[in-house]
Amino acid sequence: MITVIGSLNYDLVTYTDRVPGGGETFQADAFETHIGGKGLNEAIAVARLTASQDGAKVQRVRMIGRVGDDGFGKELIDALKGDGVDTTFIDSVPNTKSGVAVILVEAESGENRILITSGANGTLQPTNSEYEQYFPPEICGTDHYVILQNEYPDTLKTIEWLKVNRPAVNICYNPSPFKKEWVSSVVLASIDLIIVNEGEASDIASVLGLHHKENCDIATLAEFLQRALAPNGISTVIITLGSKGCVYTNKDISPPLKADSVKVSHVVDTTGAGDTFFGGVVLQLSQAKCLHEAITFATRASSLAIQKHGAAESIPTFDDITEGHFIN
Ligand code: RIB
Repeated sequence: MITVIGSLNYDLVTYTDRVPGGGETFQADAFETHIGGKGLNEAIAVARLTASQDGAKVQRVRMIGRVGDDGFGKELIDALKGDGVDTTFIDSVPNTKSGVAVILVEAESGENRILITSGANGTLQPTNSEYEQYFPPEICGTDHYVILQNEYPDTLKTIEWLKVNRPAVNICYNPSPFKKEWVSSVVLASIDLIIVNEGEASDIASVLGLHHKENCDIATLAEFLQRALAPNGISTVIITLGSKGCVYTNKDISPPLKADSVKVSHVVDTTGAGDTFFGGVVLQLSQAKCLHEAITFATRASSLAIQKHGAAESIPTFDDITEGHFIN
């Protein structure tokens, strides 16, 4: 079982040759709407990247979140259901708008700039009795993985509640959008898997007292973070390096290893690629794949995602990967 707790956004995406400066007006190339939100993207990644056996998916994925009582909210829930994600715990909040992301994507690089308005995501602050309802003890063994990010206000409480009340579940965390003030050794010591980019890794290390960060290489950072993670958990650290791949380590891998990215000839839109990678890694680990295998699979998935427009819509299926469609 994989549970994603987090955001659902309606993405308003403008594709442009150039991002205008302050006070400047510029004619963009195209405008599109897409389904997104880091939480929703991660849930859809897990669902699509799961293999089918005899017509049924072999992994169960569910999402906990909030949408507004508007048309966007209905579309977001329908999209999740369409991919087989269990939406029992996604509530529609009265008189509230769904979360929205305004995204600018640069045509040449596919790079994005994202502004989010949390809307209903900002109301996701479950009570203890709601957590009890979401996580009954009988489904909270070591085979349960929980995926978290920072697009709702209660991530730290979720981590604390799970650690105290359901210590066997694997807590997997992508601290994005990054909030320095949320970093502490107590939080890290509760996490089993963390995925961060280079800047975030360096910021976490300096908050935790690893000084001279300018002299610190990525492998040293990864080892430092790995030692800060839950000692009895899967304690996995992945530092993503964009087109340069990633560096990874866990309690059985020392020194950290490097994985290359898959080269693609044309990057169209990087939105959601990180969420695809995260979902792919967690899915594979939940299926007892080794970390190297999980990263290779997830790298292929994200290399396909960046070749299409949109966040959730660009996420490939298990068959896309195994049939080798990732080679461009
Ligand atoms: O990670 C990509 C996502 O970030 C987008 O889908 C957008 O909604 C923002 O949450």
